[in-house]
Amino acid sequence: MIPAQFQIRDLTIRPAAVLAPMAGVTDTLFRRVIRGLGGCGLLMTEFTSSEGITRNAKKTLRYLFFQPDEHPITAQLFGASPSVMADAAKMVEDHGFDAVDINLGCPAKKVVKCGGSGLLRDLDLLEQIFRAVRSAVRIPLTIKLRAGWDEKSIVAVEVAKLAESVGVEAVAVHPRTRLQGYSGQADWKIIAAVKEAVSIPVIGNGDIQKPEDAARIAEQTNCDAVMIGRAAATNPWIFSQMVEFRETGSYRQPTDAHRHQLLSRYYKEIKLADQPDAVGKMKQFACWFTHGVGNGSELRRTVHEARTPAEVLDAVERFFERQAAVGIEPDAVLRNEVPSDHANEHATFETAG
Ligand SMILES: Cc1cc2nc3c(=O)[nH]c(=O)nc-3n(C[C@H](O)[C@H](O)[C@H](O)COP(=O)(O)O)c2cc1C
Repeated sequence: MIPAQFQIRDLTIRPAAVLAPMAGVTDTLFRRVIRGLGGCGLLMTEFTSSEGITRNAKKTLRYLFFQPDEHPITAQLFGASPSVMADAAKMVEDHGFDAVDINLGCPAKKVVKCGGSGLLRDLDLLEQIFRAVRSAVRIPLTIKLRAGWDEKSIVAVEVAKLAESVGVEAVAVHPRTRLQGYSGQADWKIIAAVKEAVSIPVIGNGDIQKPEDAARIAEQTNCDAVMIGRAAATNPWIFSQMVEFRETGSYRQPTDAHRHQLLSRYYKEIKLADQPDAVGKMKQFACWFTHGVGNGSELRRTVHEARTPAEVLDAVERFFERQAAVGIEPDAVLRNEVPSDHANEHATFETAG
């Protein structure tokens, strides 16, 4: 089972489960959905450009917005200039974040030129960045990395050791290479190797789709905490399910009534927030979230036809009313398996981050 808690210096994370940063997904509204459902010990922002922050770019600063109930929360930064990364980290600290994280994983072409997984090919520069950021902030400093650039250059252990030696205080490992993108399987053996090599907490990430996977990754790698990405968007209850599984050995699945409640509350908040991309965001979320819902494809179709946030909300309400009318099971069922069509979810994600 996953540990009940872990420490990043004086920061206690309870339970030992972290929401992975996901560009375009883990904004403040989504993070608060996750926090509200319970079971997630640490939230993270999506990756944020250090250049944008230090230029005070309005759009970039929006990524750093969070609400008081999101603590503890980490801001993730990317960039390749030690001094700019240090300045941005200081701004993040002043903004009230509990920790700052450096992204060493983003595979996107635009990003690898100026940080992300591109830094895994230049460990001298990486060391300079670590040192500059470390001396700029007092809050805990963490990193999130991929295994390496390609299969011939797996550097996760080397980078984790380097990071520890200059004062980085936790490392999250997504054990795929940059060239792999999101294909193939995450190689959890690399997480185990990093855990063997360093004394700072190691957070295991990659392909955890259900509580049983979280228990397996903890057992196989001895990691101090788990990090969940894509599965949180298809099943935001996964964190509370992990707690239930840890405590009782089984866990409940959400019912249509739970899904209805969550979807309409989340969509109302998106609408209220008056985001320029509100409809796009609603459509994107509907696509992930409705897999496993009876007749989910019908909901996806009607949501995709909607043109305004009000039309999306209306489609959601009508869909769940119809479901209730035909007598879809309203009570929670105890089952230990996620619906089978969750298995193919991953194909629907963009390869950002
Ligand atoms: C849509 C999307 C956006 C992502 N954005 C980021 C990001 O901003 N920063 C980051 O470190 N990783 C990012 N990632 C990678 C995830 O944090 C995580 O490492 C990866 O999805 C593997 O975990 P999972 O199998 O639990 O999804 C992103 C992944 C996806 C699917």
